[in-house]
Amino acid sequence: MQATARVPAKVNVRLGVGPLRADGFHELVNVFLAVGLYDTVTVMPADRLRVTCSGDSTDQVPLDAKNLAIRAAALVAERTGRCPSLRIHIEKNIPVAGGMAGGSADAAGTLLACDALWGTGMSRAELLSLCAELGSDVPFALIGGAAIGTGRGERLRPVATTGTFHWVFAIADGGLSTPTVYQEHDRLARGTVDPPSAPAELLAALRHGDAAAMADHLGNDLQPAALSLRSSLADTLEAGTAAGALAALVSGSGPTTAFLVKDQESARHVAAALQRSGTCRMTRIASSPAPGATLVGADCLS
Ligand code: C5P
Repeated sequence: MQATARVPAKVNVRLGVGPLRADGFHELVNVFLAVGLYDTVTVMPADRLRVTCSGDSTDQVPLDAKNLAIRAAALVAERTGRCPSLRIHIEKNIPVAGGMAGGSADAAGTLLACDALWGTGMSRAELLSLCAELGSDVPFALIGGAAIGTGRGERLRPVATTGTFHWVFAIADGGLSTPTVYQEHDRLARGTVDPPSAPAELLAALRHGDAAAMADHLGNDLQPAALSLRSSLADTLEAGTAAGALAALVSGSGPTTAFLVKDQESARHVAAALQRSGTCRMTRIASSPAPGATLVGADCLS
């Protein structure tokens, strides 16, 4: 008996960071786009709740209760009266601690797989509410596509897109801690932060599948903080831009950098140039939008 879910990474095509709230989170306007880099999460009955991991940089993945997948399984079990004796196996393909919501993807995949394995029959709204309890980016990993996230990023409104957007991602050595990047943002912004908004031009570019127009309106308010903590990212951004990317930005809290390109041929060219530049550890090519968490195999109790 087991259930397997496939879950996409995300890139923020606009991450507007507003004021720090009393609960320690920032008010956001976050335009999410799911990209076709996927983690695969399998859950199966075991003697106790534990997580295993295979893939790139898995030595950086916590295997204890800090892992969001463990917390997701424990949360579904608690809310549905199940015993959370499970092994969760994560096949990692999304950069670890890279600003692409890999941990959030694993949490969303675990929720979906546990729901299938145990036959809990939770509604989409119930699943989304559990996702929001686990983390600001987890609901988007469940729905995928493109969406505007407000509040701390968890309140989602789907956004229409057409066509395909092509990306190259440059993966840096090591990760960046999301809370540390937000703290650095606060230090640099010194309290002068306006409530953010989603540019209409960006939403129109998504709706029309117009990568060149989108390139003019990409933005990430966390980028100065990520660059302040990891100044070498400026060289990576420069190398991708020099190689012909339409636009370059830090993905979420970084340190992964994202390069919007015209088509697949340009993606291969930019990826090769980034690799040659020696400013990143590796590159990945992917396209958007991608579907949200999807059950890809289930052999279940009910
Ligand atoms: O929601 P999540 O657990 O993924 O957030 C990780 C950390 O990122 C938070 O503890 C907080 O420091 C920061 N964060 C924030 N404002 C948000 C989302 C995240 O300050 N809207």
